[in-house]
Amino acid sequence: MSAKLFEPYQINNLILKNRIVMSPMCMYSCHNEDGMAGDWHYTHYTSRAVGQAGLIILEATAVTPQGRISPRDLGIWSDAHVEGLRKLVSMIQAHGAKAGIQIAHAGRKAELEEEIIAPSAIPFNDQMKTPKEMSLSDINDTVLAFGKAAERAKQAGFDIIEIHGAHGYLINEFLSPLSNHRTDEYGGSVENRYRFLKEVIAEVKKVWDGTLFVRVSANDYLEEGLTPDDYVTFAKWMKEDGVHLIDVSSGAVSPAKIHAYPGYQVPFSEKIKHEAHIATGAVGLITTGIQAEEILQNNRADLIFLGRALLKDPYWPRTAANELGHPIEPPVQYERGWK
Ligand code: FNR
Repeated sequence: MSAKLFEPYQINNLILKNRIVMSPMCMYSCHNEDGMAGDWHYTHYTSRAVGQAGLIILEATAVTPQGRISPRDLGIWSDAHVEGLRKLVSMIQAHGAKAGIQIAHAGRKAELEEEIIAPSAIPFNDQMKTPKEMSLSDINDTVLAFGKAAERAKQAGFDIIEIHGAHGYLINEFLSPLSNHRTDEYGGSVENRYRFLKEVIAEVKKVWDGTLFVRVSANDYLEEGLTPDDYVTFAKWMKEDGVHLIDVSSGAVSPAKIHAYPGYQVPFSEKIKHEAHIATGAVGLITTGIQAEEILQNNRADLIFLGRALLKDPYWPRTAANELGHPIEPPVQYERGWK
């Protein structure tokens, strides 16, 4: 059987060798709280490139120190970060994978000693810190920090930038009325809540003409929160603003009960793909080759993002290929022992 999972995929001017994406996952492994890539990152990400994933997206990488989820997150807030990231990119690309980076700001979900910032001074829950409401100059500075991060990502040689707009971090906090109670031009109407992301995309695109993804949480799972329909609107605007693919996750902007089961977020990807006419990635409890193949063949997503399955099995592409009866080429070094 010829599996779509292993067909090359062209997006913008980039060709991925297959449809398997390593989903961004924080590793909390920077020593000295300096955001620098180190041995763990080189080993961990390169293993998945050896394992034949088509695209590796680095974990949420902070655009400012204050935007880290934890003190041990990767960072891209200074020029000093470029060298380590460049090494990581070349190690990933050496195995035929493309390299992406998720640029992020944690907003009110930053678990740091210092002051944290968000659209409104509302904590995520009663265990977490109350953020400072961002002033217009905080907003402007943060938009510029995303632009600087994109410039550095370009210097490091990344093939793809993914803007982290999901999981209740800063951009998501602006989008959702649950976390954004502003009364200025960044809050209130849908257009106003989208404004921060719109400015981030525009700032990134000033320096980045490459492929651009945005990860979203397409459902808040709460009565007053955002729904997949709202995200169809946002996705249409993102397409107009030059985004190439929406990576469709869900939840985590405010505490909510989520019923998670295999492929539970795939319907959101399918809806956005067909109603906003933009490429999408599906993610969330996708664990087998057959499941991935079903999603692609039924046109419910263009790419398959894998998180925990790739943590457990760096050779998941080979496992899926065997399952689908679609042999794939090994890395040359493994030619005698791959089958
Ligand atoms: C994650 N996830 C995540 N998502 C994201 O957008 N940025 C991130 O940095 C992280 N960090 C992270 C760390 C770890 C250890 C895990 C397990 C997950 C979410 C991840 O990308 C993915 O969306 C979910 O794990 C669901 O997919 P799976 O794991 O069911 O394939």
